[in-house]
Amino acid sequence: MKIALGVGGGIAAYKAAEIARALMERGAAVEVILTAAAEEFVRPLTFAALTSRKVITSLFASSSAEDVLSSSVEHIRVAQENDVLLVAPATADLMAKFAHGLADDFLSTLYLAFTGRVILAPAMNTNMWNHPATQANVATLAARGHVILPPDSGPLACGTVGPGRLPDPVRIAEATIDLANRRRDLEGETILITAGPTQEPIDPVRFISNRSSGKMGYALAAAAAARGARVILISGPVELDPPYGVELVRVVTALEMHEAVMKHLAESTIIVKAAAVADYHIAKPPLQKIKKTMARMSLELDPTPDILAEVGRKKGDRLLIGFAAETSNLVEEGRRKLETKNCDMVVANLINLEGTGFGAEENEVTLVMRTGEVAPLARLSKREVANLIFDHALKLRLALHATQ
Ligand SMILES: Cc1cc2nc3c(=O)[nH]c(=O)nc-3n(C[C@H](O)[C@H](O)[C@H](O)COP(=O)(O)O)c2cc1C
Repeated sequence: MKIALGVGGGIAAYKAAEIARALMERGAAVEVILTAAAEEFVRPLTFAALTSRKVITSLFASSSAEDVLSSSVEHIRVAQENDVLLVAPATADLMAKFAHGLADDFLSTLYLAFTGRVILAPAMNTNMWNHPATQANVATLAARGHVILPPDSGPLACGTVGPGRLPDPVRIAEATIDLANRRRDLEGETILITAGPTQEPIDPVRFISNRSSGKMGYALAAAAAARGARVILISGPVELDPPYGVELVRVVTALEMHEAVMKHLAESTIIVKAAAVADYHIAKPPLQKIKKTMARMSLELDPTPDILAEVGRKKGDRLLIGFAAETSNLVEEGRRKLETKNCDMVVANLINLEGTGFGAEENEVTLVMRTGEVAPLARLSKREVANLIFDHALKLRLALHATQ
């Protein structure tokens, strides 16, 4: 996969070096173009050393008379050879040029000559971002089908606080790779995904929770969105940024999770229940903090609604995928859950394997399916596991419809 990385003249230009590196680590070949203003912030040498390639900095210096005679015009070559044009940081100036078709330097000329997918990561002062001129240009570029990665909010280098920060370089690199690899086989689907733990209050300051990090659910949401699905991600409290393009519904307790799932059930075509929802809670937690006065205390817990079982009863012909975190008898437990909760697939994993499961970057799961098929997957990144779950889900739905 070949990516042209255009770097604009903003304070965040230094982060483009990390983006180039993250892209290369994910197997992309990267060709870097610096605008004249970008060169005021970062040097071509950094990018040349990172990418082992010449860095383009000028429209005319890059195409000599001999090159032109041998019909090698550099901005046309770059446009033809690359699959994706990523511009990060995309300055207000560059977006104005792109929106209006100006072509007075290498990057803006390349933009006009480029027919592949374009992804822009704007970064600038909050007032510049909010200005109607910038917003109109962003809307024009989005309407052309370009992917715009909206800036994060937070303290900016210029001293203001608000939207304008370049998102994390790894997130930008992953969104770009997704765009380059995009399979659109989940287009038309609305996928409801639950993720993370729930927190059940004991009193206003304490709660009962579990070790779920939400990483598997967020990986599923990112994979589904990248493959064209509309994704509704219902998430318990986690320390993760939501993937681009998903509709995030934040919840805290099992009761809130239940309410959110039931609210969105009708509009979904596939439901993936990757959240670790508390089985028990304190039905009426006290409104005042419990004081340390008792020698011993016990908590009375009541069951929470069984969301998976209720979705199983109400699902109709929707595809329901449940998760089972087990410590033994993976396939039997998966089959039992499949039957008792009316799931179409259960993703079962052993949580006592080192380096997988809760909080880990990788997972090793076995897919137990309604058709009787059992598919043990190798240990893979959660993102790869997510893609394989959807590959199997699409095949499973075809098989289930064929037998109806
Ligand atoms: C110190 C400094 C920081 C700047 N930071 C930004 C920025 O973060 N985003 C932006 O859109 N413009 C920023 N600018 C303004 C751009 O450098 C200016 O608009 C320039 O023409 C952009 O050129 P380019 O889009 O061709 O790279 C900054 C200017 C200076 C002097």
